[in-house]
Amino acid sequence: SRALKIAPSILSADFANFGSEIEAVEAQGADWVHVDVMDGHFVPNLTFGPQLCKAIRKHITTVMDVHLMISPVDAYIDAYADAGADVLTAHVEAGPHIHRTLQAIRGAGCKAGLALNPGTPVEAAAPLLDMVDLICVMSVNPGFGGQKFIHSQVETVRRLRAMIGDRPVHIEVDGGVTPETAPLMQAAGADVLVAGSAVFKGGSVADPAPYGHNIRAIRTACDV
Ligand code: DX5
Ligand code: ZN
Repeated sequence: SRALKIAPSILSADFANFGSEIEAVEAQGADWVHVDVMDGHFVPNLTFGPQLCKAIRKHITTVMDVHLMISPVDAYIDAYADAGADVLTAHVEAGPHIHRTLQAIRGAGCKAGLALNPGTPVEAAAPLLDMVDLICVMSVNPGFGGQKFIHSQVETVRRLRAMIGDRPVHIEVDGGVTPETAPLMQAAGADVLVAGSAVFKGGSVADPAPYGHNIRAIRTACDV
């Protein structure tokens, strides 16, 4: 079966200490590092520009998983690819030409991710299944960490896994992932679990052991 990957979202890290936070969370067992890019337009929050991504890339030894919550997106693909993104994920809702966007992401040398908001029908992904390496199912409305898990997205993951069939496509879930919700998503077919508040809570650069405890709690709940 697919190896489970935990991808801490540095949206919940100390913003004055990204380099140290990334090194700490990787040392504590993170498989990927998830970077939430927000533009104050597609979502009501502002975060990481390409220069900041490039700076933090030097501290990531695993996979840099960049989640673009921006619209328009195409004009920024090359900048985030140059910043060192391994996976670049764009939202199906962010513009009229998601097919072109996914082509451009692969053309820039990145793995292509497609994100679906909770209000988007799973069928939106159907024409794009051969163009993506990852589908990100949002289990909160994007914009902020620490929101409540939307349970109806378990069924979205289950239906998406059936649609994907034997294609080599990761299903990532993003939002409200905890030791309670993670096993539901994994059983439905998710193999990449993004977790922000559930990983970073209780820890710090000075005391990173809770990060490891929190990551292990999610893994143990999924029984892998
Ligand atoms: C929300 C972001 C998520 C967020 C998850 O827009 O895409 O990655 O950081 O945070 P938690 O795990 O706290 O819900
Ligand atoms: Zn995200």
